[in-house]
Amino acid sequence: MPTSSGLFPRNFKKAYPIAVCGEGCWIIAADGRRFLDAAGQAAVVNIGHGVPEIGRAMAEQSSQIAFAHTSQFHTAPAEKLAERLLAMAPANFRNGGRVYFTSGGSEATETAIKLARQFHLENGQKDRYRVLSRRQSYHGSTLGAMSVSGNVARRAPYEPLIAEWGHIAPCFCYHCPFEKTFPQCELACAGDLQTLLAQNQKVDAAAFIFEPVVGATLGAAAPPEGYAARIAEICRKSGILLIADEVMSGMGRTGKPFAVQHWGTEPDMILVGKGIASGYAPLGAVLVSARVVEALARGSGAFMHGFTFQAHPVTAAAGNAALDYLEAHSLFERVNTAGQYLRGALSPLQAHPNVGDVRGLGLLFGLEFVKDKAAREPFAKEQNIAEGIRQACLEENVLTYPTQGCVDGLRGDHILLAPPFTISPEECALIGRALQSAVAKVFSA
Ligand SMILES: Cc1ncc(COP(=O)(O)O)c(C=O)c1O
Repeated sequence: MPTSSGLFPRNFKKAYPIAVCGEGCWIIAADGRRFLDAAGQAAVVNIGHGVPEIGRAMAEQSSQIAFAHTSQFHTAPAEKLAERLLAMAPANFRNGGRVYFTSGGSEATETAIKLARQFHLENGQKDRYRVLSRRQSYHGSTLGAMSVSGNVARRAPYEPLIAEWGHIAPCFCYHCPFEKTFPQCELACAGDLQTLLAQNQKVDAAAFIFEPVVGATLGAAAPPEGYAARIAEICRKSGILLIADEVMSGMGRTGKPFAVQHWGTEPDMILVGKGIASGYAPLGAVLVSARVVEALARGSGAFMHGFTFQAHPVTAAAGNAALDYLEAHSLFERVNTAGQYLRGALSPLQAHPNVGDVRGLGLLFGLEFVKDKAAREPFAKEQNIAEGIRQACLEENVLTYPTQGCVDGLRGDHILLAPPFTISPEECALIGRALQSAVAKVFSA
């Protein structure tokens, strides 16, 4: 066990290299090792590491004013970033929408849960409080966010502390929970929301939260055509709000500013985090649509919520600078092209008997490893295949994001890839080669 550090580690049984600097898609450690950051750390680093403009913008802002509390002031960088995010959002956010900034994704989820509750209070529906969600999703590590999360492993130790508001089936065609096939399934997984709402004796549901493309937990699982629209329709008819958690899938990661825009869906709130400042500052946000804003503005006028560091001017400056960089280098537009390079580099893996699925959208990819390809049967959890692949890729100096549990919360091994939007064809090829070598190593053992 490393004892020389004062830092509380994520895992006491693991050794952590010291990251010193970053250049583009690479991270350089204190011992000089260079790692290709194929997962953008955790789908965070959208513009690449070491972009000097971002640091300069943050320094400039902090030299003007370091901090101003939102109970007393607004600041220009936060106002500007809010306008820019709303301009990227679906139409129902553009006239009268607002942005509530946070310091990350979990805080955004907490904010949305409370805002959904207050929306209904403002409308005189005091019984509505439950935020429904899906199994096999992740919305953050704070207790409210854990309550709506359906990630079995991450919830397990804290079960006594977290609320149970109701979870429906995931939308996951590769391991359909109803053992059906699209389109004959008629979107049974979306219908599950209707079923849950119908079971509800008392009308107490307030909202439904979902990841439009499920990131870490299912490994970049995108829904089939019609799913998001059907969910939105059920929410609208049932009088509940629709919250799209785009902490991972938002800010251009899937090839549109927000993943819901692939299907023309207009949620009531959109959560962002991770890539919003490309990792240069801890930033998250809730984009709130005009109708939710109106309910509060016309009603009590005040949202009973707040974080000291919300809308911090220096983190907002980082967000603006990251957006400037994305725009100046046409990086939003590059996601689909770079995604094709990466898909091409990964395609030889598909022939391997233990690579069950290569899936994703834009620059968010998941590779799932299976014991029996025809039956889509997972390996035993104890074999820890995803971690084995991560380690084998690390030996090739390529960083990936491994997770277990995509099949039933415990079994199912996949890795996630979410490199910076700047990734070159040569770097994509390197990722493909590292994975081929990792797969050969892990499955020959
Ligand atoms: C979809 C989703 N929502 C919420 C979160 C929580 O964000 P944070 O870790 O910034 O609190 C994450 C983090 O992985 C996520 O992927």
